[in-house]
Amino acid sequence: MTGRHVDRRTVLVSSAALGMVAAAGPTAVLAQGSPAAPRHPPATTRLTVNGRPATLTADARTTLLDGLREHLGLTGTKKGCDQGQCGACTILVNGRRVNSCLTLAVMHEGDAVTTIEGMGTADALHPLQRAFIERDGFQCGYCTPGQIMSAAAIIEEARRGAPSHVTADLAGKVELTDAEIRERMSGNICRCAAYPNIVAAIRDAAGERI
Ligand code: FES
Ligand code: FES
Repeated sequence: MTGRHVDRRTVLVSSAALGMVAAAGPTAVLAQGSPAAPRHPPATTRLTVNGRPATLTADARTTLLDGLREHLGLTGTKKGCDQGQCGACTILVNGRRVNSCLTLAVMHEGDAVTTIEGMGTADALHPLQRAFIERDGFQCGYCTPGQIMSAAAIIEEARRGAPSHVTADLAGKVELTDAEIRERMSGNICRCAAYPNIVAAIRDAAGERI
């Protein structure tokens, strides 16, 4: 008998193979027979980091957080969730706090960035750093750089009179009460739950008029 014998098993195996190709989509087919996928040329961003000019050359999809940590070697800024939920990556951009995991480095051409490395030195601590030590405002310390950068920003926000959700008098002076501090720091999560001491440290530093 001419022709190929096609049994049930052959049909099932062939169907499964076709199904896998279909599931992989056109990329799998292209990968075998076409030139390599186009590469994205790196983008160059010039900005100021902690008072010094910096040039960041990286894939245009690089977040500011990864740019600081992986390309400029500033690992003080921490990556917690990488999706805007924990505040560990908080830095200042032109004086305002930003979750650096949620913004691309290329969006910051010409901006002035401040990270925890720009806040003080071991010999000359920033008042917030000193207050966090004195008040024991951390345990593992992973959230601490973000807490301190956020704290610096909220002290400025209060001085400008920017109200928060718990500010009673929208036209008056903003006092950094514990309730104000807790509300304004609510985007900075501490999984060691050092919150009472963090609030105390910020209260102390705010009183120093940093
Ligand atoms: Fe950016 Fe968590 S790492 S908010
Ligand atoms: Fe450990 Fe805040 S001190 S997460």
